[in-house]
Amino acid sequence: MKTDDQLEHLRKLREEARLGGGQKRIDKQHEKGLSTARERIDLLLDKGSFEEFDMFKTHRCRDFGMEKQVFLGDGVVTGHGTVDGRVVYVFAQDFTVLGGSLSETFAEKICKIMDLAMKNGAPVVGLNDSGGARIQEGIESLAGYSEIFQRNVMASGVVPQISAIFGPCAGGAVYSPALTDFVIMVQKQSYMFLTGPKVVKSVTHENVSEETLGGAAMHASRSGVVDYPAGSGDDAIAYIRRLLSFLPQNNMENPPVLPCADPPEREIAALNRIIPENPNAAYNMKEVILQTVDNNDFFEVKEHFAPNLIVGFARYNGMSVGIVANQPAHLSGVLDIDSSIKGARFVRFCDCFNIPVVTFVDVPGFLPGTAQEFGGVIRNGAKILYAFAEATIPKVTVITRKAYGGAYCVMSSKHLRGDINYAWPTAEIAVMGARGAAGVLYGKDAQKAPDPSAFLAAKEKEYQDAVANPYVAAQRGYIDDIIEPSKTRSRIIKSLELLRNKRDTNPMKKHGNIPL
Ligand code: HXC
Repeated sequence: MKTDDQLEHLRKLREEARLGGGQKRIDKQHEKGLSTARERIDLLLDKGSFEEFDMFKTHRCRDFGMEKQVFLGDGVVTGHGTVDGRVVYVFAQDFTVLGGSLSETFAEKICKIMDLAMKNGAPVVGLNDSGGARIQEGIESLAGYSEIFQRNVMASGVVPQISAIFGPCAGGAVYSPALTDFVIMVQKQSYMFLTGPKVVKSVTHENVSEETLGGAAMHASRSGVVDYPAGSGDDAIAYIRRLLSFLPQNNMENPPVLPCADPPEREIAALNRIIPENPNAAYNMKEVILQTVDNNDFFEVKEHFAPNLIVGFARYNGMSVGIVANQPAHLSGVLDIDSSIKGARFVRFCDCFNIPVVTFVDVPGFLPGTAQEFGGVIRNGAKILYAFAEATIPKVTVITRKAYGGAYCVMSSKHLRGDINYAWPTAEIAVMGARGAAGVLYGKDAQKAPDPSAFLAAKEKEYQDAVANPYVAAQRGYIDDIIEPSKTRSRIIKSLELLRNKRDTNPMKKHGNIPL
């Protein structure tokens, strides 16, 4: 062949590979309002930055007529490109090729980019849209999944891993996304479950739709599998791009610092009045977060799961931080099983990737009740405690109001190596609420008093004045300073700048044993 012919041949093959399962199937995808794998990659990466690998790779299966169904690239598009100029490794499952089903070859392609991502220290983004294991191959595809799982685990804490689900994701295939740091699902077009509605019906006799059983809304609010239920495929990709902007490339780097036009010393007078007179009245902690962070820009994660605890990313004077905050506007900001798990996983992610954590505390305690105790609130509540205690990243804490009992200890207290711990003058730091304390200490005496409720009210006030304030904790040095709420932004920024070169370590060990 002459060079021109050779070039022509290469171009033709590339064109064929780019068509995946063929134009008809691409059209079908578009008719359903869905994008193709390549369109998703183009949207994710900076324009023109995508470099593809293994475009010519094909499967080796010769059973069930598969020798006649050979597609260049074998149903997954893999390679690397940049997001905001930083390298990202990416794979996108192509539903137009055999339903995006995973073969041995397909898995090898994903493993190749995961290995490169780990060696070169860059995030991996997986765009999932697949009918699961390629049925014609059987055990080879199971082996392929397992190879991916192994790499997901090895990459955990080394490079950020992000999964988006655009279509079906069932059976054991769900475990690769579940092992990654963040999972985004597109509403109404994707689902994730171990066993689908038909199997559920035959085993448990339940009638349930795919959407109810494993749709984005369910996973974002109930199972906690999903961090963000996207309104569309494009929305999912925009979310991933923003998420990456807060993260370092790998565990050896610090997160990026962006230029910041929002004055670090900006005072926020409204915060001096945000705490209601009535200690049991709610206020919205998101307001505190939004008012203090750069440009009122807060990127929330797992918004719909356990909303009594808020987690997400923001910046202070351009520095990327993770935020953990009790939300008094939901269940009074109580800690329970789900919020403990949510907080623990988030803090551990930040700790893996050197992202400081700022914690806002207003927590009346752990949620009492049989549902919580039977569900293992001891075991699960211990997770958030463990996460804060093992974290060596800079930890800045602001107690805005209540910090009672075990929940005080858990929420990034001084005793769990909190670096800088502030309280507002409205803080109430005590073993328990004044009413509960008066009941326990003076309940019997009250029965003997002429007016039991007046007696208890007086004791409650006595306890409140003596203990439920920030000054006792400040006297002990458990609180570094009591600050005016209006100055919270500038104090947090100064603290983060002070802690920029913080180095702390844990004892040498293979790994800890977090209560799971
Ligand atoms: C091979 C598959 C396939 C698969 C789909 N296709 N799934 N080929 N292996 N797993 C093919 C279809 O035969 C079809 O080819 C094309 O992809 C498009 O599929 P449709 O059924 O036409 O599309 P749709 O109606 O949108 O339904 C999508 C679907 C359905 C819900 C994913 O295809 C489906 O139920 N597939 C089987 C899912 C499954 O049981 N997978 C194995 C799970 S076990 P043609 O040529 O006819 O158009 C598993 C274990 C993993 O994954 C364990 C890991 C540890």
